[in-house]
Amino acid sequence: MKKIIIINGPNLNLLGKREPGIYGNDSFDTFLEEVRAQFTNIELHYFQSNIEGELISKIQEVGFNYDGIVLNAAAYTHTSVGIGDAIKAIQSPVVEVHISNVYARESFRHQSYIAPNAAGIIAGFGLHSYILAIQSFLT
Ligand code: DQA
Repeated sequence: MKKIIIINGPNLNLLGKREPGIYGNDSFDTFLEEVRAQFTNIELHYFQSNIEGELISKIQEVGFNYDGIVLNAAAYTHTSVGIGDAIKAIQSPVVEVHISNVYARESFRHQSYIAPNAAGIIAGFGLHSYILAIQSFLT
């Protein structure tokens, strides 16, 4: 069974309440139940933190023994050299995910410290972006 983790960064714990016009009305917990029901053939883990260092520690912890990391580092995508370096340091492939199409938004969201070392990037498909990322590890 493949081991995959979804790692969500800051403010994504507020999904469903936060800027619903951009991020939708669904909470991540509800969505995660649907994902687990859809992918019964994988071991799916989940971690969320608003704290940059906790995200880095989790990436280090899983980065040598998981088959894939689905990473929505949220605002840290655009600012965190530390998360970028963590992705360079590990062996597990990382798919960068965004709910919104960051390239259709403010220019500061066009910068990513993750993208140069990601296996791929999926953005703009709402929560379905996470499903596309998981599928990418299953082919
Ligand atoms: C986001 C896009 C980021 O620019 C933003 O800071 C987020 C969420 C997304 O999923 O669309 O918090 O990563």
